[in-house]
Formats: sequence, C-alpha cells, structure tokens
Amino acid sequence: MSEKIEERDRKEDMHLIPIYIMGKEYAVPSTATILKAFEYSGYKMLLGCGCRGGICGACATVYRTEGDYRIKVGLACQTVVEEGMFLTQIPFFPANKAVYDLEKLKPTVNTILRYYPEIARCVSCNSCGKICPQDIKVMEYVNAALRGDIKKAAELSFECIMCGLCASRCPAEIVQYHIGVLARRLYARHIVPEAPDLPLRVKEIAEGAFEEEFESLTGASEEKLIQLYKDRDIEPV
Ligand code: SF4
Ligand code: SF4
Ligand code: FES
Repeated sequence: MSEKIEERDRKEDMHLIPIYIMGKEYAVPSTATILKAFEYSGYKMLLGCGCRGGICGACATVYRTEGDYRIKVGLACQTVVEEGMFLTQIPFFPANKAVYDLEKLKPTVNTILRYYPEIARCVSCNSCGKICPQDIKVMEYVNAALRGDIKKAAELSFECIMCGLCASRCPAEIVQYHIGVLARRLYARHIVPEAPDLPLRVKEIAEGAFEEEFESLTGASEEKLIQLYKDRDIEPV
C-alpha cells in the first residue's frame, strides 16, 4: 500500500472521541496515542514525556474506561486512546531510592536487604509483573534478588525502563526497579570479570590520548558531523 493511501485510510478511520483528562472532558482523534491526545487537548508535556518511543519510561499513565472498574496502565506514547477513557499521568513515583558507594558493597543478599529491607515483605502476588508495560518478570527478579541470585536479578531486570508502575501496585511497598538497578550494578562491578583492556583505556583517557579528536568533534559543523555519521564504520547486517 502506498504511503498516500495509508495516510488517507488513516484519516478516514480517524474521528473525534471523548476522553477525560484529570476529570475534564476533551474530544481527541481516535487514532492518537495518549501522549498526543494530551497535547491535542492543550497540555504541554514538560514532565511525563521523554523519548516518545517507549524506552525512557517517563510517560507512565493510569486510566480506566467507562463501565469498567479496573484501573489500567500504559505508556502514554505507546497506548492509543479509547472512547470514554479517564486518565491521568504519574510523571514521577515518589519511591525510596537508596544511596550507596558501589565500590564498598558486596554482591550478596545482605546488601540488597540492607538498602531495601522491604523486599522481604514480598508476598509473591505478581501484581508487579502483570502491570509492567515491558512484560518483565518483575516478581521473578525481586525473588532472585531476595535469594541472593544477583546475576539472575540483573539479567531479568535488564530491560526495565524505570517507569515506576510496578511500585505503584506493590502491596508490600517494594521499589522493584531500584532493586533491579542495584542488582545490575552489583553484577557489573563485582561479578562480571573486568575486561582486560579496560584499565588501559581508562589510563589513555586520563592521559588525554583522545582530547584532540574530541575537540575536533565538538568544534565540527553540523554538516561535517552528518557526514562523519554517514561514513562511520558499521557492522555488516
Ligand atoms: S519493572 Fe517496573 S519500573 Fe521497570 S518497566 Fe516494568 S513496571 Fe516499569
Ligand atoms: S507486587 Fe510486590 S509483593 Fe507482589 S510480587 Fe511484586 S514485589 Fe512481590
Ligand atoms: S515518552 Fe519515553 S517511554 Fe513514553
């Protein structure tokens, strides 16, 4: 199908539908994402919007549809509006975030429990897994962290986009995604063997081996940068 026909069909499918943003009714295009519907209704997204592509986790949205008691969630940039949708956004979830010196930590369950003792309250209800827009096995990575299986917790949480929705549902008030970050940091710093070339490269950077190249890039014109990007070495597909 040509681009023009697709565009025409999309327009024909599109009509205005009512939705409710923070209690106020608006008419928005039926094909719009929640994010675009917000903007169509006049909201300027200073918070609750980042990449627009489903990877930054900034646009977590809570909604309910008319006649349905269930609270649903989604990423505003990825979820298309539905007629009679009541919605609001969670641009930030006020979660407990531990501060630590990674160098001094050990990759053990005691470290997890020290900074996030609430993890021991997990009742394995899987509310976190059911709500995750990334379909991550959240309960499984929380339980792996609780068993001290840092590697598994790190791997299972790898695709987390920190949207905060799992924490918003947890009856034990656990902050799953910060625990996932801690597990990944512990794994990367203390479990994975250090790459042999890394200390050498760090030394080279400290000694200024790349300063000249760096300065030529930061001083380059936009055209030059575009050309360099086009000419870059890429792995064959
Ligand atoms: S694990 Fe939690 S914070 Fe991470 S993407 Fe899933 S719901 Fe969002
Ligand atoms: S929602 Fe909370 S209590 Fe339930 S499985 Fe997930 S971490 Fe455990
Ligand atoms: S704006 Fe980044 S995930 Fe939606």
